[in-house]
Amino acid sequence: MERIAVLTSGGDSPGMNAAIRAVAKASFFNGKECVGVMRGFEGLLEGDFITLTRGHVGGIIHRGGTILKTARSERFMTPEGQALALEQMRKAGIEGLVVIGGDGSFHGGKALHDLGFPVIGVPGTIDNDVAGTDETIGFDTAVNTALEAVRRLRDTASSHDRMFIVEVMGRHAGFLALEIAVATGAEYVVVPELPLSIGNLCQKLRLSHKAKKAHTLIILAEGVMSASEMKGKLQDTGGYDARITVLGHIQRGGSPTSFDVTLASRMGAYAAESLFIGKSGCMVGNLNHRMVLSDLERAWSETKSLSPELLGLIDKLN
Ligand code: F6P
Repeated sequence: MERIAVLTSGGDSPGMNAAIRAVAKASFFNGKECVGVMRGFEGLLEGDFITLTRGHVGGIIHRGGTILKTARSERFMTPEGQALALEQMRKAGIEGLVVIGGDGSFHGGKALHDLGFPVIGVPGTIDNDVAGTDETIGFDTAVNTALEAVRRLRDTASSHDRMFIVEVMGRHAGFLALEIAVATGAEYVVVPELPLSIGNLCQKLRLSHKAKKAHTLIILAEGVMSASEMKGKLQDTGGYDARITVLGHIQRGGSPTSFDVTLASRMGAYAAESLFIGKSGCMVGNLNHRMVLSDLERAWSETKSLSPELLGLIDKLN
């Protein structure tokens, strides 16, 4: 294999640029060429390719977002779309592909692998909802971004003895919410993985009111309900008046943390070198601090669980 390609797909995440750089530089180190595909699978269909040079990937290691841009492509999920993508790569002399994204993007990679084209996935999403890796690229940065925001909210919440509901991202998973809740010392966390009883929550709030807590922080995962819906329920059931903050896409931007840059560098290089030794249909993971490969479908067929230890800490340390 002499020429590979790399694309980013789905929601961007901090550290994707470091991963692109690592795929490209590991290619150069091994005497191979690396092509950047613009706008994810959409660019693959259109043959929107750039042969990457050291210049393209210089000075991007610390930048958020993705220089290759990203998109969600419906067209690619059809057999005609996949045939067209293969044809575009054949014409451009591309012999293998690294897909950086979440489980949705890996479905696309698996489709190409099943058609006989070599593909390796690199998990990049702030949600950390991909099985087969302890962390995804961007998760640590998103947690730290939220941490800074919630610390600011805590100042004003405690000055006014107020309750705040902070809605965080995570799609259908509670990894971001749980980690943010532990790191900010929030009183409560509400995640899709656990059943929610507003009655029980109100009872806990009454107890903390009695204990004269200066403020209450509730970290709410977007996959459960919106912050305004929860505000309404707490008002109706317990008569509580909460302020709400939706962190939204702020969590997706910014410079990656050192953890994410290192993770992205390791994963990107490992992905490229896995292609060069003939691997395909796999995703790279970081399990117990080691780079490993597992089948791409593991990303969606296996449900990754929240840490029971972290969940226990919320009650214990509240
Ligand atoms: O998957 C990453 C993510 O940021 C989720 O946390 C969120 O639900 C979703 O993407 C938002 O997607 P969009 O950028 O299309 O609004």
